[in-house]
Amino acid sequence: MIQTIATTPFDDQRPGTSGLRKKVTVFQTPHYVENFVQSIFDCLEGFQGGTLIVGGDGRYFNREAIQTVLKIAAANGFGKILVGRGGILSTPAASNLIRQHGAFGGVVLSASHNPGGPHGDFGIKYNVSNGGPAPEKVTEAIFARTKTITEYRIVEAPDVDLDQLGAVRLGPAEVIVIDPVDEYARLMQRLFDFDQIRALFQSGFRLRFDAMSAVTGPYATRIFEGLLGAPAGTVLNGTPLPDFGGHHPDPNLVHAKHLFDLAMTPDGPDLCAASDGDGDRNLIIGRGLFVTPSDSLALLAANAHLAPGYAGGVVGIARSMPTSRAADQVAARLKVPLFETPTGWKFFGNLLDAGMATICGEESAGTGSNHVREKDGLWAVLLWLNILAARRESVKDIVVRHWADYGRNYYSRHDYEEVTSDGANALIEALRESLPSLKGKPLGGLTIAEADDFAYHDPVDGSDSKHQGVRLHFEDGGRIVYRLSGTGTAGATLRVYIERFEPDPTRQNLDTQFALADLIALSRDIAGIAHYTGRDAPTVIT
Ligand code: G6P
Ligand code: ZN
Repeated sequence: MIQTIATTPFDDQRPGTSGLRKKVTVFQTPHYVENFVQSIFDCLEGFQGGTLIVGGDGRYFNREAIQTVLKIAAANGFGKILVGRGGILSTPAASNLIRQHGAFGGVVLSASHNPGGPHGDFGIKYNVSNGGPAPEKVTEAIFARTKTITEYRIVEAPDVDLDQLGAVRLGPAEVIVIDPVDEYARLMQRLFDFDQIRALFQSGFRLRFDAMSAVTGPYATRIFEGLLGAPAGTVLNGTPLPDFGGHHPDPNLVHAKHLFDLAMTPDGPDLCAASDGDGDRNLIIGRGLFVTPSDSLALLAANAHLAPGYAGGVVGIARSMPTSRAADQVAARLKVPLFETPTGWKFFGNLLDAGMATICGEESAGTGSNHVREKDGLWAVLLWLNILAARRESVKDIVVRHWADYGRNYYSRHDYEEVTSDGANALIEALRESLPSLKGKPLGGLTIAEADDFAYHDPVDGSDSKHQGVRLHFEDGGRIVYRLSGTGTAGATLRVYIERFEPDPTRQNLDTQFALADLIALSRDIAGIAHYTGRDAPTVIT
């Protein structure tokens, strides 16, 4: 029943920040999925008879890829394979299942917030036993294996019925189709005060959560409209569709502009929120106010003790380096450490495993905690709801009070997308070379106090990550950061992160671009952006 099939290597199977991501058509190449999945298992040891978690975000090709993963996992010796019904598991739910079941690992099928459909993207990611993405040494070993693979093992059997709950045999393994929401919902009930949030909804509080026709639909419908009693219609686009309804499942102000517009109407919902294709990112907009991911991290950390799961307080806060330093003010007040890591959720894993941080966040719309080892979109919305239910103030009031208390970090990211790689690399190289001369330099009324190329020393495993972005700190507390995106698919994307601290409450109500105008102009001059990229203006401003 187990077949060994001869194959030849592909040369393009290097996993990126979040696994292997390619066009669907590439994954449809014969043996492409098989080679990659066999290469994953070839790099693991000690999983014979162990448990594997499998699920994806429901995008086009999800079901086909899952059948292949199940058959190869069974042929390679996993004893028990848990798969979400319909092939559905959000990324944080998969992370939770790996932890709850003491699984050896998990295979997550997703291309996150990238568009889906026959012409869209697909992805395969391996997560290890702590529930988090495989570390680089594992993904590099997988990549090396993909270049030498000569055969894969697969169970010859009819497809597993993914829509039927329960256990079936697949060759030597047992496959159990589970409800994708049950265990995740239980985890959320342990962390948050569902009675208090239910009372909030009963008092007339209005939430609109847009699942963007992606994976969070079933989770959000069960939790918000089911367990928490929010009215029907609270969840928008709640049915996962293979092409996400033709939309781009990225919860930002461009792709979820309709939510922003809704939240800005005077009688709009109290809270508008969204998550991405695989359910790990979040967007939070209160009536009349968009909460930046950086501010959201700071606010959640400052108020987390209001939720039962965090009643004992947070032991530490971690943020990626380009994320604004709003959370630093909170950590200082709480007298807990603040960790500044390179971009990428995987850098939080060690801190969480070691019990050094409780809450983590990134400017790229990711927030999460030690409850799983992925960022978690619905968790962020539920923590906001718990805080709103406990404080009974509007999102806007809570944010404005926070700023008055801690100061406001005006923050914006300017992206120059699809510029040439040569130009982008030359720009960063020139910046690095100019670092020694930048320090102490007066520029348009501002002075650079510190200038460096960010390097991270992991306090847990002692590893070092260099060249993680150029940072310019100004004497008045302002900051400009330059880095190249690690997730783009065409050319290079230069990201410029601009931030200024404003302690004066009477000056915290300005338009962000206006408040940052001087630094924005400087950011272009200092790096010679027009010279190196040929661009006078960014393509996206968030
Ligand atoms: C993915 C990762 C995030 C990371 C982001 C950075 O979404 O999961 O942890 O923050 O990529 O993307 P960038 O394009 O800025 O490298
Ligand atoms: Zn995602």
